[in-house]
Amino acid sequence: MYNSKITGLGHYVPDNIVTNTELSKMMDTNDEWIIERTGIQERRWVKEGSEDTTAVMGAKAARIAIKRAGLTKDDIDFIVFATLSPDYFFPGCGVQIQDMLDMPTIGALDVRNQCSGFIYALSTADQFIKTGMYKNILVIGAELHSSGLDKTTRGRGISVLFGDGAGACVLSRSEDNSKGILSSHLHSEGKYADKLIVESPSSKKWVPEIIDSEGEDISYFPYMDGTFVFKHAVVRFSEAIMEGLSANNLTVADLDLFIPHQANLRISQFVQRKFKLNDDQVYNNIMSYGNTTAASIIIALSEAWEKGKIKDNDLVVLAAFGSGFTWGSVVIRW
Ligand code: COA
Repeated sequence: MYNSKITGLGHYVPDNIVTNTELSKMMDTNDEWIIERTGIQERRWVKEGSEDTTAVMGAKAARIAIKRAGLTKDDIDFIVFATLSPDYFFPGCGVQIQDMLDMPTIGALDVRNQCSGFIYALSTADQFIKTGMYKNILVIGAELHSSGLDKTTRGRGISVLFGDGAGACVLSRSEDNSKGILSSHLHSEGKYADKLIVESPSSKKWVPEIIDSEGEDISYFPYMDGTFVFKHAVVRFSEAIMEGLSANNLTVADLDLFIPHQANLRISQFVQRKFKLNDDQVYNNIMSYGNTTAASIIIALSEAWEKGKIKDNDLVVLAAFGSGFTWGSVVIRW
């Protein structure tokens, strides 16, 4: 068995900054409510008419990651793309990356695990490397939420939370078994699927029904039972961290950097307090980007690395929880 390690990181967010005050001009909300409940100060939203799509942003992040890995697009053997907001109902964004980066006809896999999407994608890529099937895999998480949010007061409980952006890494084969991805842990509990959901477009709806439907169909907008999700998130985040550490005979004291999925600053702070982690041990950037779902962990990882917060041999734990419900963790020795 081989080991896998991250050899290149990159991220891209659209230029357009949307502050809480700007949101208060679109809907009945305010800066104080959003900051107090979520910690979010601003987010990036793609401007209507911009060239940026989920796949385009993913490609921009991917080019940076490949370059930083010291590789070219021809060295990449496989693509794994995580998103809940693909450009098309089908095909997925993975094949668009193969085309946009002018890669050889390598395989491309799309992952549909929402906020845990990047954890699932990284774990999947890790298995392909461990078995020896591939040497260099491009793993991308990207989202364009802003085109599908309900930006009226009706949707304020959700639309203020989400932002657009993309991150990518190259996962490469390594002969050093003491470093790289030590383990990954994946979970789901589908009975809560309707607690955080976008119902449409849906194959359950027959075309005549869509044509006959009158007025606005709110099933195209995200729905979330925020309080229910919050309560489950704090429990599952904690479990995911402990599961990852125990599987490697490690404890919280060994942790150098915890990068949680950026769902809500209050969730991250709850977990930080529970495990008595200091501010240097937890990386948050939800204040600037909002919740970018499958992109959030990889944007945060890329940004933390750029800021020099990850050093050789550091123990880094990534964890996510979200729609499905799905949750999981990845433990990395850097
Ligand atoms: N601005 C102002 N008021 C708002 C608002 C907004 N953007 N959104 C909701 N409100 C109002 C509600 O209408 C409600 O008013 P009411 O009491 O008159 O009915 C009040 O604020 C409280 O709403 P509630 O939903 O109970 O707030 P909350 O304290 O639970 O916070 C979330 C809402 C969404 C911030 C919180 O539930 C949360 O973070 N949940 C988890 C989110 C998450 O992690 N999602 C992704 C999973 S990966």
